Order: sequence, then structure tokens, then C-alpha cells
Amino acid sequence: MAPDFLTGEEISEGLGSVLERAAALKDGRPRTGADSLAGKSVALIFEHPSTRTRVSFEVGIAELGGTPIVLRSDEMQIKRGESIDDIGRVLSRYVHAIGIRSGSDDEVNALAAAADVPVINMLTPHHHPCQALADLMTLQENFGELEGLRLAFVGDGNNVARSLAILGRAAGVEVVVSSPPGFELDGEEGAILISDPAEAVAGADVVYADVWIGMTEQDAESKRKALAPYRVDEELLAKASDRAVVMHCLPAHPGEEISEAALYGERSVVFDQAENRLHAQKALLEELVE
Ligand code: CP
Repeated sequence: MAPDFLTGEEISEGLGSVLERAAALKDGRPRTGADSLAGKSVALIFEHPSTRTRVSFEVGIAELGGTPIVLRSDEMQIKRGESIDDIGRVLSRYVHAIGIRSGSDDEVNALAAAADVPVINMLTPHHHPCQALADLMTLQENFGELEGLRLAFVGDGNNVARSLAILGRAAGVEVVVSSPPGFELDGEEGAILISDPAEAVAGADVVYADVWIGMTEQDAESKRKALAPYRVDEELLAKASDRAVVMHCLPAHPGEEISEAALYGERSVVFDQAENRLHAQKALLEELVE
């Protein structure tokens, strides 16, 4: 069976070597690994908008010598009722891996079950493992090692929080998630849940913010109200470690989930995170694609 990357747990054992390879690819840009996907094609299915994921995967596949094929789901037969299983079976006859951004984790799991090639989760309601992989790479760059770091995720206990908890656990990073009642991270991912944001951030090496309103969410106003005390700003950052960095997976709404000063300030590694999507995903593709 082809190896998939659906939650991030799949590479727990090999996480260190993927991060090491990602750093080497970054050092050697643009030619390192230039032929590792030569003659190979990767389908990238998008049911929802994307800037970073789409461009970093397209550029990364091209830099590895492969061919990216971007498919908007509204231009596919899925729109007319073709099953995700059949799409998986058919694409497996053409391409060497499939990435998918979907509004349904079940759909992505079904695609992976039907496909004979690796399936990569490019964001679902419950998971965003490619983001967490790039975030760990960014932390390794900043701190030298991951083991023992404390990361405080402040806001909605969402897909990014869950993926940070899963991959953070594999890397030895203590992940604390601080959310208001009704928006806590569920599941058994190993994160520590602390509702008070000041307590969650105390002594943290990393303070992480993410958008409050997800791509498919409607009830925005009541959620904004509940999350208002969870904004990452200078007052909250003052409670973190002196060496703390600020992370955000973008797109950001400065003044909402994060202050402009925190987003663009000297502690911010936000744009390194965005860049590292490219390098981390290249290493992941090398690991998964035969
Ligand atoms: N962080 C992230 O996944 O960005 P995009 O939605 O632009 O791909």
C-alpha cells in the first residue's frame, strides 16, 4: 500500500530525517534534488482557495523535476457526482501522488483508500499536517533543536492546532492549546488544554495564532466575540519566554487574532514559516513518492 500523509502520524518515525532533508533542500536551492521527481506527476486537487499551499506545492514539484497538475474540484467530474473513490482509482493510473484540500476528512480518507499512490492532505477541517511540518522546520531553524520546546497555540482549537499537537508530540515539543469554552481542541492528540491564555503562554518559546473564522464557517460574529480575549498581542507576548517567537500560518487578519505589531515585529517568524512550506513539502514528496 502506498504511504499517505493524512494526519502527520504517518511520518512520526522518520520526522527527523524529513526535517533534515528539508533543511538541506533549503540550503541548496534551487538545484538540490533537481531530479528526484523527474518523469513523475503529482495531481493537486483544490476544493477551497489557497495561496501558500498551491504555490509551494507547484513550485516544489517543478524544482524536483516533476510535473504538478492543479485541479480545481469545480472543474472536475466530482462536481457532477463522480465518486471520490473512482477519482482515486483513475488518477492513480496517471500520476505518482495526489494532494487534496477538501472540506471533508472522510472524503480524503476515502480517496486514500481507493488510490494506489500516496495521498497528501493539503488541509481538511481536522488536519493541516503540511503546515505543521513546515512549522517544525521553522522552529528547528530558530532553536537548533525541537525537543523540550513549549508551543502555546492561542485561539480556536482547529485543524492547525491539532496537526501541531500530533507532529509536535512526535518531535518532543510540548503543545499547549488555549481556547474559549466551545472552541477547545478535541481528540487525543496529546496537547495540554489551558483555557486562560496568559497561563498558557507563560514561559512559552512559541506563541502561535491562527485565523478565527475558517474557510467554511458561517457563524462569525458569536465566534469573534468568544475569541476576543485570545488575541495575540504585545501584552500577551510579554508573558512568554524572552526568546519566544511568534507564529501564524497565514492568511492573517491583523487587529483580529493577532496585533499588527506581533505579526510584523522582530519576534515574528511568520514569513519563514510560509517559505518553509516549500522546502518541507519537497522533502515530504521525496519521502513518499516512489
Ligand atoms: N497556510 C495555508 O495553508 O495557506 P493557504 O490557505 O494560502 O494555502
